[in-house]
Amino acid sequence: MLDDGAPRIAGKRVALGVAGGIAAYKAVEIMRGLQRAGCAVRVALTRHACEFIRPLTFRALTDEPVIVDDYAPENPDPIAHISFSQQIDLFLVAPATANLLAKFAAGLADDFLTTTYLATTAPVIVAPAMNPQMWHHPATQRAIAQLRADGVHIIEPDRGEMACGAVGPGRLSEPEKVVQAALRLLDAHGRARDLTGERILITAGATREEIDPVRFISNRSSGRMGFALAEAALARGAQATVVAAATSAPEPCGARIVRVSSAEEMLRAVMSELPDATIFIAAAAVADYRPVMRAPQKIKKSDRRLTLELEPTPDILAEVARQKRDALVVVGFAAETERVAERARAKLERKGLDLIVANDVSQEGAGFDTETNIVTLIARDRARDLPRMTKLEVAHRVLDEAKRLRAMQMADGSTAKTVR
Ligand code: CTP
Repeated sequence: MLDDGAPRIAGKRVALGVAGGIAAYKAVEIMRGLQRAGCAVRVALTRHACEFIRPLTFRALTDEPVIVDDYAPENPDPIAHISFSQQIDLFLVAPATANLLAKFAAGLADDFLTTTYLATTAPVIVAPAMNPQMWHHPATQRAIAQLRADGVHIIEPDRGEMACGAVGPGRLSEPEKVVQAALRLLDAHGRARDLTGERILITAGATREEIDPVRFISNRSSGRMGFALAEAALARGAQATVVAAATSAPEPCGARIVRVSSAEEMLRAVMSELPDATIFIAAAAVADYRPVMRAPQKIKKSDRRLTLELEPTPDILAEVARQKRDALVVVGFAAETERVAERARAKLERKGLDLIVANDVSQEGAGFDTETNIVTLIARDRARDLPRMTKLEVAHRVLDEAKRLRAMQMADGSTAKTVR
């Protein structure tokens, strides 16, 4: 079957745990979102959650028993925490209270949700929700750090006004975002680990070229495409290192991130990481020009015109391609607004690349700071137009093509060796 890059979700079994917070009512929307995506959802509530929302609500909408206490007399399965935990593909807790996070982190198991947490081998993802003070408390932050170290995926709470009137981080992330995060994790776990052994080096984000200590030249890149590439690579068993300039998209879990600011710093970081890489993907929006001089002090306002003299930045992608050794696949991006394929192909030739991902940034749903992209993948031997898809799906398609090119290069390498 063709790999269309679409998430493999249908029929996946999700356990949705709901803890006792004011945001518990939002769990209904999360459950509906998961169901719409094709998941079979079973719900379990803590006793305190029942103070905020009735188990019956979930029972009516899932047509499944809702578990609160697995030792309750009406429970048909006296060891439900074991059987339930073995039958799920994902354990999502939303909202997760400070109390529940602390119990998970400490390994306490005194109710159904906590015993399920210990007993399951499925990936676990939690969406904390609490008052900002409680979120910032060192005890909560210790629990979060411990859970991350234990491999739990955390959906960061949003900032905003809380039910108690306080303002800050702690609001349950939007139900749609929780659903998307859960679906991405399910998708990642359903993927073949076909890139095991590959080491993928990615550039991401917008470089900043300083004018003076407080000003810089930059662009609108969010880093989302580069981070999606890392997320896809990790899901398929590869190692991923991202050399990231300024980004606003959330960092992918498990990637090594090397932070840089300017094009010059990005070049240096890339060159020091390159000897280890098998695939290099330049997804960063690198400023093409930088000020010739960085003013040592803040430039003061005056009535006169100000002229900034700019010089070209180093072309990182071209430099990597120039130094390319055998069996390194080099992939670039081309953001164009006209004659897209033709210009991208010229860029592929000029920079000596193996693959170029061309996108027409003038189209709706493509380009900078969007969730989706519309691209054409152009290699020397073939070109493929892809429909509009999420950046994560684009990332998987780019990796499919990079994997094919890498296999071709390895085959060429071994033929060359045999002939010699
Ligand atoms: N790139 C880079 N270093 C630079 C500039 C660009 O690594 N100094 C990489 C980008 O990450 C991207 C590709 O090169 O993969 C884009 O090529 P570029 O020549 O900058 O083209 P565009 O900016 O897309 O367009 P144009 O040539 O029309 O300016």
